[in-house]
Amino acid sequence: MSNFILPEPVADPLLALIGRYRTDTRANKIDLGVGVYRDHHGDTPVLSAVKAAELQLHRHQQSKSYLGLTGDIGFVEAYGDLIFEGTSRNIAGAQAPGGSGALRLAAEVFKTAYPGGTLWIGLPTWPNHLPLTESAGVQTKTYPYFSREKQQIQFDQMLECLTAAKAGDGVLLHGCCHNPTGADLSAEQWHSIAQLIAQKELLPIIDLAYHGLGRGMNEDLAATRLMAEHNPQTLIAASCSKNFGLYRDRVGAVYMASDNKEVAGRTQDFFGQIARRIYSMPPDHGAAVVRIILTDESLRAQWQAELSTMVDRVNSLRFDISDQGKSLNLGFVADQRGMFSLLPLDPVQVDSLIEDHAVYLAGDGRINIAGCQSDQIPRFIEALDAVGFKGVV
Ligand code: LMR
Repeated sequence: MSNFILPEPVADPLLALIGRYRTDTRANKIDLGVGVYRDHHGDTPVLSAVKAAELQLHRHQQSKSYLGLTGDIGFVEAYGDLIFEGTSRNIAGAQAPGGSGALRLAAEVFKTAYPGGTLWIGLPTWPNHLPLTESAGVQTKTYPYFSREKQQIQFDQMLECLTAAKAGDGVLLHGCCHNPTGADLSAEQWHSIAQLIAQKELLPIIDLAYHGLGRGMNEDLAATRLMAEHNPQTLIAASCSKNFGLYRDRVGAVYMASDNKEVAGRTQDFFGQIARRIYSMPPDHGAAVVRIILTDESLRAQWQAELSTMVDRVNSLRFDISDQGKSLNLGFVADQRGMFSLLPLDPVQVDSLIEDHAVYLAGDGRINIAGCQSDQIPRFIEALDAVGFKGVV
């Protein structure tokens, strides 16, 4: 035992919140923590399109024998067709265990294809981006993305910082519904970034976890399609956790969009080779469900309708929070998109919101708008006021 050197485990701050919230017995608790969609009852139900597809799967699936290293190819193609609609690239793709599994595969491709390359990650970001990519052996640097105090994208600083990137470096970008800020680049800014990345021969890696939950599916995918068209190579890590509500089933896919058929073919084989070394094959159930939905006209329409209900609810909550929170300068919440906004709160204020007011949120001040019930908004705003929140002044 004396040479047993595992360090003291550090709890994942976001996932630890789930446990804290569950054990809180206060009836008026509000859950704005982990990024999970909730309906107006506070539930995260299984979508009815998913239930219907599961029934079909149950009836027709003949075997649970292995599918292969890249998973359900029908799923990978159908999801890829949705993401890359209208683009003309050669697409390599593999199913992955959730968006995180897809990011890991993307990180492995980047590290191997661009040895010595540094991955630039914008701050603030999803707290697992740096640990996930660094534990894949990727060197990272950060660039400024957003000022929490001003609730503004720091676009000039971002561009200036990225001019220091070298050919063969990668740039991690959130395709839409930026996590944790809800602030996405404008179409014009995306064009400038795409140009800079292409000019400097950098590799864009797009994290696509919330498409369909911001401005609508095509609008949410526009930046990813633009990057794919503008660059010789683009890596995309896509999740089905939020837009299909398949969180625990771990459904995602990694793609490489390339202007070169050979590069796409080589990457395709590499995806499988890397998967074999890490987990061998991805879990099948959820991917089969997504394939059934995307390839069946009526189930696809049912899913789209359910997704519209979700996005409408999130956007109307944004409007209500901003409207009812006028005195606290919460107007910015209505301008942002996706599930999150990042409130300028210090750790003492966050602690007090949780401890004294039973309002659960991430330590950096991120709130999951989709976790809020309409009738909880006044109490949420009162609690912000009580901890001295000033909004953007
Ligand atoms: C989140 O950001 O809350 C979600 O993506 C859940 C997670 O895995 O962190």
